[in-house]
Amino acid sequence: MVFNATTTARRSLPQLRRFASVTAPTPKILVTGALGQLGVGLVQLLRNKYGANNVISSDVRKPTAAMRSEGPFVFGDVLDYKQLESIVVNNDVTWIINLSALLSAVGEMHMDRALAINMQGFQNTLELAKRHQLRILCPSTIGAFGPSTPRDNTPDLTIMRPTTIYGITKVHVELMGEYYHRRFGVDFRSLRYPGIISADTEPGGGTTDYAVQIFHSALKDNAYKCYLGPDTALPMMYLPDCLNGTVSFLSAPTESLTQRTYNMAAFSFTPKEISAKIAERVKGFETTYEPDYRQAIADSWPRSLDDSIARKDWGWKNEYDLDGMVDDMLVRLRK
Ligand SMILES: NC(=O)c1ccc[n+]([C@@H]2O[C@H](COP(=O)([O-])OP(=O)(O)OC[C@H]3O[C@@H](n4cnc5c(N)ncnc54)[C@H](O)[C@@H]3O)[C@@H](O)[C@H]2O)c1
Repeated sequence: MVFNATTTARRSLPQLRRFASVTAPTPKILVTGALGQLGVGLVQLLRNKYGANNVISSDVRKPTAAMRSEGPFVFGDVLDYKQLESIVVNNDVTWIINLSALLSAVGEMHMDRALAINMQGFQNTLELAKRHQLRILCPSTIGAFGPSTPRDNTPDLTIMRPTTIYGITKVHVELMGEYYHRRFGVDFRSLRYPGIISADTEPGGGTTDYAVQIFHSALKDNAYKCYLGPDTALPMMYLPDCLNGTVSFLSAPTESLTQRTYNMAAFSFTPKEISAKIAERVKGFETTYEPDYRQAIADSWPRSLDDSIARKDWGWKNEYDLDGMVDDMLVRLRK
């Protein structure tokens, strides 16, 4: 098939993907905040796809020896523009993925750090993207919505008045990224992730962390004390889906994107529902409820997301439903 600039607009998504994969050079990718819950797996997936040496992992923490052996790691602080720029220039970086952030619950405890890392840190990576023509991905979150947002089947474009410092900084990320895209042509991309459930990596201090802790407690103590009330529904996703979707979005042809920030979700559940699913598989498991300050945060977020535009534009599709995720988590954690 022959492609040219005037015909790409009329092509289907699979045709655009084929065109993009034939014409695009292999990216050189810098991932900041790469030792967190999402970064470790994302780096592995990107290395499988683009080659170990084309993906530089960076963080302000020290990697394990095993992580070091898997590919390049550099110390990288998103608050240090010059240091990041030297990594970008010295390594011919073409894509930057900024995962460095303070999440919702920790952000409320350390407001100044959250403002610095989530806003100034992001601004530094965005400036780098502008200056060196990088593709940039920085995740957003369901925390970017607020209590005045419609809470069920929340669409991409809606009221965004978050009440946490985390949410406020993420609305900033979305709006600044879109501004740099419009004004300077920066290839900014963002996904509003729901709560992410993972077996191999620890969550970093978000309001949805209970959905990971509950599995560990079920297998260790056969009991869990939940800091959210039993009927608090929140959108969630299993890590493998989050990572595959992110790689797919990152490599999506520019022509297929009708917006720069997308909702992305898989399923929603309440603590009571996930407890029941685990109890079906772990005999005698019981959950008690003692809501703390995180209840108010959860109550200000959507119960479910409409991610139909991501599904249509760049083919987002989750593989795991709730039962599939629970089965896989228990198999992995029992190992
Ligand atoms: N995990 C989730 O459930 C979830 C949900 C929605 C959105 N997100 C978003 O996804 C991204 C990654 O989240 P995560 O769960 O992996 O977070 P995490 O807290 O597990 O990891 C964040 C990483 O950033 C690093 N970091 C902190 N300060 C830094 C600095 N100054 N410079 C460089 N790195 C620094 C930390 O050491 C840590 O390894 C974040 O933008 C987060 O907002 C996550």
